[in-house]
Amino acid sequence: MKLTEDPTASSRKKDHIDLAFQSRLTAAQLDTRFSYEPLLAAHPDGIAGYPKGFLDKQIKAPIWVSSMTGGTQMARIINTNLAKACAEFGLGMGLGSCRSLLDGDDTLDDFNMRPHIGTQPLYANLGIAQVEQLIASAQTDKILNLLEKLSADGLIIHVNPLQEWLQEEGDQIKVSPIETIAHIVREMDISVIVKEVGQGFGRESLRALLKLPVDAIEFAAMGGTNFSMLEMIRGDEMKKDAFECMAHLGHDASDMISTINELIPEMAHEVNCHNFIISGGISGFLDGYHAIQSLHHNAIYGQASAFLKHAQGSYEELQSYVKLQIEGLEFSSAYLRVKES
Ligand SMILES: Cc1cc2nc3c(=O)[nH]c(=O)nc-3n(C[C@H](O)[C@H](O)[C@H](O)COP(=O)(O)O)c2cc1C
Repeated sequence: MKLTEDPTASSRKKDHIDLAFQSRLTAAQLDTRFSYEPLLAAHPDGIAGYPKGFLDKQIKAPIWVSSMTGGTQMARIINTNLAKACAEFGLGMGLGSCRSLLDGDDTLDDFNMRPHIGTQPLYANLGIAQVEQLIASAQTDKILNLLEKLSADGLIIHVNPLQEWLQEEGDQIKVSPIETIAHIVREMDISVIVKEVGQGFGRESLRALLKLPVDAIEFAAMGGTNFSMLEMIRGDEMKKDAFECMAHLGHDASDMISTINELIPEMAHEVNCHNFIISGGISGFLDGYHAIQSLHHNAIYGQASAFLKHAQGSYEELQSYVKLQIEGLEFSSAYLRVKES
């Protein structure tokens, strides 16, 4: 190829002149989280330096589709799109609450994503209140049935006392969640991930959780979709006025990253959980890359609402979104270093 061959040069040069004044940024708009190192790598072919496996499965990018919906016609479309994207791009996925499947198969098609996701990680999901009730009524075999009918790799338990407390129809949690989770990991030979739903976990909860042999902790931190807020919007106006302040409680992802980075060396041999899904308010690949580089342990990042935005229509829309996210991660891994905070 001749080096002077550049058929679009003329129109491109014209664009540059026309658009130059619209394309000015100020130093105040700098993303100060990263050091940009343009000299040290070629344009990348793949994402450098991230774990290629997660929970004993192969993944091609460190991205997790965080648990969302089920039980409506729309959910089936959303979940199918998400599962197909996981299969195509090598990601993992948590299903939304599968409670409706504990006693019947009416909604099975909304959740039955194994045929679409292929061999990628797929986790079923139940709330802590349901798991507590199953233990109390000696029906934990229903969890095994659930995993079997979905061909799921394991169970995500979402721990959501604030959401349940604020929800009109919410369940009462009668046993401390850590006891319920300890019972499950002690008595059942299944892979377990534990998550919140948008408030994250504080230091002492993380300390207790890290001691248990759960396969991963998903942050579901404060800073993104917040189910406590969502329940208040659904509910009574006066209650919202009184309790809106509660939705602002919790821990954001960067707070949880620092806490885990401090706790793991401090707890040393007491730590039994070594995998993390950093989620809650991750708006795209830069946030995700920053998060996984900042945690000094095996981590991928998760997003719920960002995927939801693109998963409600055609598969092609979601496909384009995920492709761009992966390209962004590839570039980031070649040229960006996270600054120590
Ligand atoms: C529509 C929707 C439904 C959700 N349903 C569940 C659920 O059933 N179980 C669960 O553990 N989390 C559920 N979540 C919470 C997400 O998994 C995630 O923790 C939370 O949305 C924060 O992530 P984000 O900021 O990327 O949206 C849901 C989130 C959304 C947006």
